[in-house]
Amino acid sequence: MANGWPAGKIFDSSIYGFTYDDLILMPGHIDFPSSDVELKAQLTKNMSLNIPIISSPMDTVTEHQMAIGMALLGGIGFVHNNQSIEKQVEEISKVKRFENGFILDPFVLSPKHNIRDIDSIKKIHGYSSVPITEDGMLGSKLVGIVTNRDIDFITDRTTLLEEVMTRDLVYGNSNTSLTDANALLRESKKGKLPIVNSKHELVALISRNDFKKNKEFPKASKDYNKQLMVGAALSTKPDGESRAQRLINAGVNVLLIDSSQGDSVFQIDLVKRLKESFPQIDIIGGNVVTPMQAKSLINAGVDGLRVGMGSGSICTTQTVCAVGRAQGSAVYHVSGFARDYAGIPCIADGGVRNSGHVMKALSLGASTVMGGSIFAGTEEAPGEYFFHNGLRVKKYRGMGSIEALEDSIQRAADGAQHRYLTAPDSVTVAQGVSGSVMDKGSVKQLIPHILQGLRHGMQDAGARSIPDLHSKLVSEKLYFEVRSPAAQKEGDVQDIFVLRGTK
Ligand code: IMP
Repeated sequence: MANGWPAGKIFDSSIYGFTYDDLILMPGHIDFPSSDVELKAQLTKNMSLNIPIISSPMDTVTEHQMAIGMALLGGIGFVHNNQSIEKQVEEISKVKRFENGFILDPFVLSPKHNIRDIDSIKKIHGYSSVPITEDGMLGSKLVGIVTNRDIDFITDRTTLLEEVMTRDLVYGNSNTSLTDANALLRESKKGKLPIVNSKHELVALISRNDFKKNKEFPKASKDYNKQLMVGAALSTKPDGESRAQRLINAGVNVLLIDSSQGDSVFQIDLVKRLKESFPQIDIIGGNVVTPMQAKSLINAGVDGLRVGMGSGSICTTQTVCAVGRAQGSAVYHVSGFARDYAGIPCIADGGVRNSGHVMKALSLGASTVMGGSIFAGTEEAPGEYFFHNGLRVKKYRGMGSIEALEDSIQRAADGAQHRYLTAPDSVTVAQGVSGSVMDKGSVKQLIPHILQGLRHGMQDAGARSIPDLHSKLVSEKLYFEVRSPAAQKEGDVQDIFVLRGTK
């Protein structure tokens, strides 16, 4: 067909599985600038994001720094669960504390604490401005505030806070709106503004840094309290429900059940129990690659699906277990089914190496795209950089790699959960590998770059938004072609030496 083929023609009539690199989109008609492309995306039935990008719950990808970076840019990060409940809860709390409207649970000290107490809050959490109340608790009478400037040059760190705190305070009242409180903060030229009730008891705090961050990241993903949104992973282990409860108490916005094969009685039972106990929290189930698997989880009550099995860059599942599916086919078939059956959005998870892959995943029906390797090696990914063969790299490993499995066996006693581990005494079979990836800088530069590529792709295809792209897909107005191996080679950079440092 001269203009290419609708996706159904390729996927519904072939016995082969296709993935992103097998396909290419045909250009559509452009009648708008790329800056008009809207990238709002549906994460689950009830939650939307400003960009269709999310980070994977892997221990070399998403802890609080990645989750903060993702949320600031308009996406979301899922904090991994290969760690104790306490540690995972702490990671969620760090994201929730990072940027606030009203900080409802600020660190508070009493006049009888000393500067060392402030030092340790600063060391662990990064804050050096602490309101002081009579008994050191929120809800007690506000008597002062200690900021960096009060304690910078004091060498005796055992000095009591009552000797150094600022007593002449600017504060807001608890009936002040966030906008008015921010205006007061701006006028006062202070870094922090305590908020008190009619009895002069401390009820909240607002921060100048947060006010600045709000301006710098206008598309940030935020909840009703203006705190950054964050997700967390759970496994189907027996403590799934209690972990969920603790994560919800810490303010998590969405939960994801992390399993490489989602259609199991364990996951179905857990989804049902979670939906019954916490109906207010959206649950993402997975992973699935067939409509049949998707149907089981949708019937159990999931609000979103994670699609992919064996497509991850560090994944050996297809080799070891001979089960999985080419990612293009998985995304097309599952998202089409989930949309028609129950209006459930799908996350295309794994195998994404560039903005073109993001574009293809969305064009095949995914609403969002989850990345592991593409975000590993960024400043926000957990772990330290090191040098390997002259390159600055960071570790990236599959959650089913021997290394991650061994770590999780060690931590099992500590309450860690794992997506691959079946029984503690079974023979350990890896379904992933570990290695390292190049330093990619910050996600704050990387993601805008990916998004710009995506905008150009959407413009070339003539789609103004993700729903527009999906409606073109469904109405067979989005055309693709399968590429031969030679065509794929032709589409890549050819016969040129790329010198380091050239752009
Ligand atoms: P990537 O973006 O291609 O690196 O793929 C990341 C995805 O691979 C994750 O979101 C998981 O779904 C999946 N994954 C993570 N660890 C493993 C593993 O050890 N084996 C198989 N798949 C994995």
